[in-house]
Amino acid sequence: MITTEPNDAVRAFQDGVEFVMFQGDCMQLLRCLPDGLVHLVMTSPPYFMGKNYDRSYRVEDFYDDHQAIAPDIARVTRLRGNVCWQVGYHVQDKTILPLDFAVYETFRAQTSLSLRNRIIWHFGHGTHAKTRFSGRHETILWYGKGTDSYFALDSVRVPQKYPGKKHYKGPNKGEFSGNPLGKNPSDVWEIPNVNSNHVEKTAHPCQFPIALAQRVVKALCPFGGLVLDPFAGSGTTGLAAVMEGRAFIGADTSKEFCEVAEERYLSLKSGTLAFRPADKAIWQPGANSSIAKRPEHFFEHLMEVRDGEKTL
Ligand SMILES: C[S@@+](CC[C@H](N)C(=O)[O-])C[C@H]1O[C@@H](n2cnc3c(N)ncnc32)[C@H](O)[C@@H]1O
Repeated sequence: MITTEPNDAVRAFQDGVEFVMFQGDCMQLLRCLPDGLVHLVMTSPPYFMGKNYDRSYRVEDFYDDHQAIAPDIARVTRLRGNVCWQVGYHVQDKTILPLDFAVYETFRAQTSLSLRNRIIWHFGHGTHAKTRFSGRHETILWYGKGTDSYFALDSVRVPQKYPGKKHYKGPNKGEFSGNPLGKNPSDVWEIPNVNSNHVEKTAHPCQFPIALAQRVVKALCPFGGLVLDPFAGSGTTGLAAVMEGRAFIGADTSKEFCEVAEERYLSLKSGTLAFRPADKAIWQPGANSSIAKRPEHFFEHLMEVRDGEKTL
């Protein structure tokens, strides 16, 4: 459901509605949430990079908004709960600012949340830069409320590279050495981003993929718990939450995005939601595929560049 009344959003959750979108400023919603209600906050805030929903292009405003929101985020998160803040870079005049630096500084000053991991989200596609190396990663700062916050590693293990490996010495010699459930997925995650060809693409300009939120939800929120996304956009965090048996409250100022989120939720419930399964392999072109072959004239250009370098 979508509501413009923050108190109604809280009541709806208390009455058992599993997917609630508040259309409005997330600070309004946060003020209505009781202390310690939420098991997991998972979000990606605006980067102040010139999107329609950014109120400026100033990184100072990113700092200001984070100073305002951080104490309430910590307050509404329950003890042993988790907070995941997904950000990229702010770019201005060829200078980059890793926004997780700004989040880290602000959360350290404004909260007592404990940083548990800095996760690198790596993806294969994006714009091709000419004046620096092309950006192909963003980060997720995972904070716990307390140092023993909830972590269900077994629910997100991934297949080992060598599952048949055995101990070669010691008392377990000859026995398989790997965990039968798979290995820890590490703090570097390779998950395709939502570009224009992605099956999950909606009208929203910067969605993250469901698989990214799904791993966070499964590992960091108990079954039946509540997930909050204060900058919910197209509702991706909420879809991951509901897919994994958790409830969701989200906020977004945009009516259009709230409607996109609600439509996606209804498609999920009717079994028609398009999404990329988390365990789907990343596509690689075969050696004989025409797009995997270098056109002849590429070599000529390469030789020209090399000759040019010799004259430097
Ligand atoms: C980076 S996007 C989030 C995208 C989302 N993770 C998804 O997968 O669709 C940030 C969102 O924050 C929303 N927003 C900006 N300021 C807000 C505010 N004060 N309160 C709530 N939402 C806000 C924007 O409309 C935008 O949809």
